Amino acid sequence: MTDTLTPVLTDNWDVDRAWTLAVYEAGGGYGALKKALAMAPADVVEAVKASGLRGRGGAGFPTGMKWGFLPPDEEGKAPKDRYLVVNGDESEPGTCKDIPLMMASPHTLVEGVIISAYAIRAKNAFIYVRGEVLHVIRRLQAAVAEAYAAGHLGTDIHGSGYSLDLVVHAGAGAYICGEETALLDSLEGRRGQPRLRPPFPAVAGLYAGPTVINNVESIASVPSIIGHGADWFASMGTEKSKGYGIFSLSGHVQKPGQYEAPLGITLRELIALAGGMRSGHELKFWTPGGSSTPLLTGEHLDVPLDFEGVGAVGSMLGTRALQIFDETTCVVRAVLRWTEFYKHESCGKCTPCREGTWWLVQTLTKLEQGQGREEDLEQLLDVCDNILGRSFCALGDGATSSISSSIKYFRDEYLAHLEQGGCPFDPAASALFATEGASA
Ligand SMILES: Cc1cc2nc3c(=O)[nH]c(=O)nc-3n(C[C@H](O)[C@H](O)[C@H](O)COP(=O)(O)O)c2cc1C
Ligand code: SF4
Repeated sequence: MTDTLTPVLTDNWDVDRAWTLAVYEAGGGYGALKKALAMAPADVVEAVKASGLRGRGGAGFPTGMKWGFLPPDEEGKAPKDRYLVVNGDESEPGTCKDIPLMMASPHTLVEGVIISAYAIRAKNAFIYVRGEVLHVIRRLQAAVAEAYAAGHLGTDIHGSGYSLDLVVHAGAGAYICGEETALLDSLEGRRGQPRLRPPFPAVAGLYAGPTVINNVESIASVPSIIGHGADWFASMGTEKSKGYGIFSLSGHVQKPGQYEAPLGITLRELIALAGGMRSGHELKFWTPGGSSTPLLTGEHLDVPLDFEGVGAVGSMLGTRALQIFDETTCVVRAVLRWTEFYKHESCGKCTPCREGTWWLVQTLTKLEQGQGREEDLEQLLDVCDNILGRSFCALGDGATSSISSSIKYFRDEYLAHLEQGGCPFDPAASALFATEGASA
């Protein structure tokens, strides 16, 4: 079995009362903040650039480069207030890393926010948290209050002359509010719908000010980069996907959970760490990064889980939300469930997604019940083709991923529904569609 785990963000999760300031500081917490405040803000940006950290929210955009996009203050003009916004909306099916991180060690994120806001010279920062996770919101608010009381937040932090206010904002329960511009509208008190770009948030974001938006895990990685150095971070991972990340394994494995490892680890290694597939069963299909990333199968067990490796086999690393399904799962039913989610969460702003997801659900429902026709598969692909790349935001694209990939790998299973006039997946027939060579 591999021993390639690299617990950094998850290192203190099982320490007693790890969420309190006293325990966090006893483990060296806020040491990186002290180090950062002794550096020039531009040097902190350079360190994050040099580390190679790429956004952990899905798209993998280089974090330091994003920070560098903020326009410089123009001489003679009053500088516009800059904002740091942390995206903690985490609502994608399968994605479940940021919420445990904020719950187990909220100070890792708070310290990351202070260092990152200092680097981009923001005076105000916001953490936008998915509204349903009230317990996490309360824990974060308590951590922020502790940080203020200890002088890590507020006016003239530790005599550095730098001041920062941090607000924890509860979202209102919509997946689309994780899309960064919809999040900004929601944070400003409007209905959360994506904004037209340009202008990009770096130029005109929150309250029309220059804004950086980063994922929880991206910002929580910053203290370790400053604390241990950019080279330490860059020594892990692969050539273009540096560092470590949290891989969330859910579904049909013996020990589902969070496995923090260098980027580039494979699913075969992760399943071994998770104790294997559940006894007597075989891997059938999986998502590398949540329900918006195209499905993969047993033939992809040795693909390096980094941005390039997963991209090369036609999917996306996304949020490393590895949902694992064995041969007892009906792929058509799983895809239908995800598509119902996208239909429900479509914000309605653009036609391809608003109407298209509705049609996708209608057609998939018929197919799953064995009442469709073979031509419906071509129609599904055609509707997907009219959504992908033609929608206003990436929610529409994500809705098509599991459909097109499942038809690519499991067309026979769709056809079997039609031949049998219903779903062949009663438990007795569970082994029917085990994919060859798929065992882990
Ligand atoms: C529908 C939709 C939902 C999203 N939800 C999240 C989310 O919950 N958290 C997140 O960090 N990014 C989410 N994103 C991606 C964000 O738009 C953005 O790329 C990300 O927050 C940038 O952070 P990063 O550069 O640190 O990865 C979502 C995107 C879309 C299209
Ligand atoms: S793709 Fe869907 S979620 Fe995005 S703007 Fe269009 S309707 Fe809204």
